Amino acid sequence: MIYMENKINFTIDGKSIQANEGDNLVHVAKENGIFIPSLCYFEHIEPPLGTCRVCTCKINGKYQPACTERVSEGLVVEANTDELKDLRKALVEMMFAEGNHICPACEKSGNCDLQHMGYELGIASVRFPHLFKDRIIDYKPSRMVLEHNRCIKCLRCVMDVKTKDGKKVFTYQNRGNKTYVGIDYDEEAKLTEEEAMRVMNLCPTGAIIVRGKNLTQPFGQRKFDEHSVQKNFNEKKHKPKTSLNMEKKIVATCSLAGCFGCHMSMLDIDTDLLDMVELVSFDKSPLTDIKKFSHRCHIGIVEGGCCNDENVETLRSFRENCDILVALGECSIWGGVPSMRNAIPLGECLEEAYLNSATNEPGSTVIPYHEDLPKILNRIYACNEIVKIDYFIPGCPPDGNHIWKVIKNLLWNEEYNILYSEFKYD
Ligand code: SF4
Ligand code: SF4
Ligand code: FES
Repeated sequence: MIYMENKINFTIDGKSIQANEGDNLVHVAKENGIFIPSLCYFEHIEPPLGTCRVCTCKINGKYQPACTERVSEGLVVEANTDELKDLRKALVEMMFAEGNHICPACEKSGNCDLQHMGYELGIASVRFPHLFKDRIIDYKPSRMVLEHNRCIKCLRCVMDVKTKDGKKVFTYQNRGNKTYVGIDYDEEAKLTEEEAMRVMNLCPTGAIIVRGKNLTQPFGQRKFDEHSVQKNFNEKKHKPKTSLNMEKKIVATCSLAGCFGCHMSMLDIDTDLLDMVELVSFDKSPLTDIKKFSHRCHIGIVEGGCCNDENVETLRSFRENCDILVALGECSIWGGVPSMRNAIPLGECLEEAYLNSATNEPGSTVIPYHEDLPKILNRIYACNEIVKIDYFIPGCPPDGNHIWKVIKNLLWNEEYNILYSEFKYD
């Protein structure tokens, strides 16, 4: 039988497009250089899953997922209005808030569709509180580990992964917000090594890990490391003002519950440091070892979240003494690596650290406590949970040149966009 392709005409954001009738809207948009974000959509899964809603567009005036839409004559698609962009951003932010996504410690970082969508949508911070759910992960399996903290319940694995005799390997368990993806290890054992690798790569996040195979590709050379899939994504270069006639500004910095990596990154700008000290002077900062504010500061830069009462006090004093307050790096923005403890009760953390850990002296019975020691908080708090934060610079750590570019931009009101290559969490 000869199949006759029927060409149809329709519009996306006012642009006239011709396509084969019945083709997938996300696919057609991509072919025509229009970016419709998607997460659960995987070209080889038919029918499309339609679970994540990240591809939501206005189609003939109704909100609908683009990945389940077949193009037809006269369709009117709104794909990239400000409202839709914000809606998608909110959906992806909720995924970050619901899971425990510690990208700097994740094997999938750089190859992860969820993380990549975070970059593409320009998510610097999450507007919803992180849930930090305590999930049990079974690390015993000899080959495939399901990391439930990272699963976005897209259904790709549930619908697509079957053994040669047609048995499902993954299933949905429970209902509502208790739903999780379960794995049948008897069936999983029937998959070949090649099939197991395909399953790991099919998962859009780092939720499915094949032991020994997840770190073979070096970080920095992974598929989403350098380039946006959107043409001209924030590639507008800012034009720095010359330092002539620029009034010198006062900067304060502090390192709370972080690793000092963001401060090290700030210093990692080689001889540009000499230009910076022409433009700014430091007040309270570990870089100057000035312990108390001696002036009101134009900008305060905070690394790290709050893990104890001293951090909270310091952060509040920064808010009081600085005109602009910037959260620098993942730990200050949402807790970062230290917040891995947030899913575990504080008592258990202390017992593990001071009584049971392999590096303790055998027989240790003391958890340090003294009135002079800062009181540890029940969990790590992001800076914006304690005080108002004006700007967020994501990254772990953010690039040094990027940090100073943002700071100069904020201090001298320059027009500025974060470039894709600078907008990294890993
Ligand atoms: S890389 Fe992806 S799966 Fe891993 S923690 Fe980040 S968002 Fe989650
Ligand atoms: S394990 Fe991965 S593929 Fe399966 S539902 Fe979760 S995110 Fe999707
Ligand atoms: S990509 Fe369309 S609903 Fe997930």
